[in-house]
Amino acid sequence: MSVGRGIGGGRTVVGVQLEAHMLHGEEMSTPPILARSLPRLSDRAAASQSSAIRDLLDHAKRPGMLSLAGGLPDASMFPTAELASIATATLAQVDHLQYGATAGEPQARAALCELFQDVAPENVVVTSGSQQGLDLIARVMLDHNDTVVVGDPDYLGALQVFRSCGAALHPVTIDDDGLVTSELETALRAGLRPKCCYLVPHFHNPTGVNLAVERQIHLRQLAEEFGFLIIEDDPYRELYYDDVTPTTLGPMPWLVQLRSTSKTLAPGLRIGAIAGPRWLLDPIVRAKQSMDLHTSRTGQVLVAEAIRSPWYAHHLDDLRSAYGDKRSLLVDLMSTSFGPSVELTTPAGGMFVWARFRGIDTSAWLVRCLDNGVCFVPGAAFAVERDLSEFARFSFSTTATCELAEAVSRMMLAMS
Ligand SMILES: Cc1ncc(COP(=O)(O)O)c(C=O)c1O
Repeated sequence: MSVGRGIGGGRTVVGVQLEAHMLHGEEMSTPPILARSLPRLSDRAAASQSSAIRDLLDHAKRPGMLSLAGGLPDASMFPTAELASIATATLAQVDHLQYGATAGEPQARAALCELFQDVAPENVVVTSGSQQGLDLIARVMLDHNDTVVVGDPDYLGALQVFRSCGAALHPVTIDDDGLVTSELETALRAGLRPKCCYLVPHFHNPTGVNLAVERQIHLRQLAEEFGFLIIEDDPYRELYYDDVTPTTLGPMPWLVQLRSTSKTLAPGLRIGAIAGPRWLLDPIVRAKQSMDLHTSRTGQVLVAEAIRSPWYAHHLDDLRSAYGDKRSLLVDLMSTSFGPSVELTTPAGGMFVWARFRGIDTSAWLVRCLDNGVCFVPGAAFAVERDLSEFARFSFSTTATCELAEAVSRMMLAMS
């Protein structure tokens, strides 16, 4: 027997070349099941691609590598002792180990709704990270070829979700004030009819910018007029370092909001939340039922207790102070070392410095940096249509303060 390419007809059935002893049933109206080739993957799975950043993170694990690549929180700042003591009490209650409600534990919905503005617990669904929230929204909103407005550049994990359900991405420029809503308005007036518009309103990944309040208001007006859903993904909103307070415009029927505890508590807990109108949350809960029944109950209870603990506010202050210092140090080191050859965005919060190196292909530079024991993410990884080959994202969250200077000097060496 040999594997052939044809299907049916002649001597090849379902891709398998048949040998004589297999052909006895050939005259039968229903052919025997003789397939020996593996079943075909769905189109969606076959088209899916691994995230360039996740692949890069494998390099970051090499011994001695200084990584400015991943958007991971600093593990040394996880509140391990506090979480451990809550976990002991949580696991002692048998009920927390039983199956639970798909929308989430009442106490988790109540605690997580405080991360939103003017949202009631009934309008919150607990998810396994905001990434699952994105996937759920895409499942209930998008059919093949539906259009989604995204920033260019934008968060790779969101682009992956939208691409995997066959959506057409309509890129809109991101400038220092976030998504350029006037550009979107021009496209809408010219006939663009998106189902959704995705955005990271605070400390955008990868550019670090905030969406200006007037643009948030403009976007809401456009959503209402043209009937599309705004997907506001806001995992960095609590990590602000300068005199900026994240804007919180209240809910509206054209808005769904995502929150995460990954950057403030620990990503391994996988607890996030969706807040939105009922017309959207009901199908989301049905989609989540078939996806995972519910998010881990123990994780939910842990997070609910943590957010309400007296130490939580101090923990957030500690994170802001530590990340803020690292942010300032990295910006200083880069601007001193690279001088006028670099244009840097100094983020007021979040985890990323976005930079442009005119005349440098950052992907080629990265290859030399990896040899020198340092890594970052080239801008091209976040591009939808723009040529971002001169840009790169540098995360300051996980590198120890004392190692940042060494990381920058290794990058400098790889420049020449
Ligand atoms: C903008 C953005 N959205 C969502 C996520 C996913 O976060 P979570 O851990 O809550 O799934 C990330 C993670 O880096 C992110 O940067």
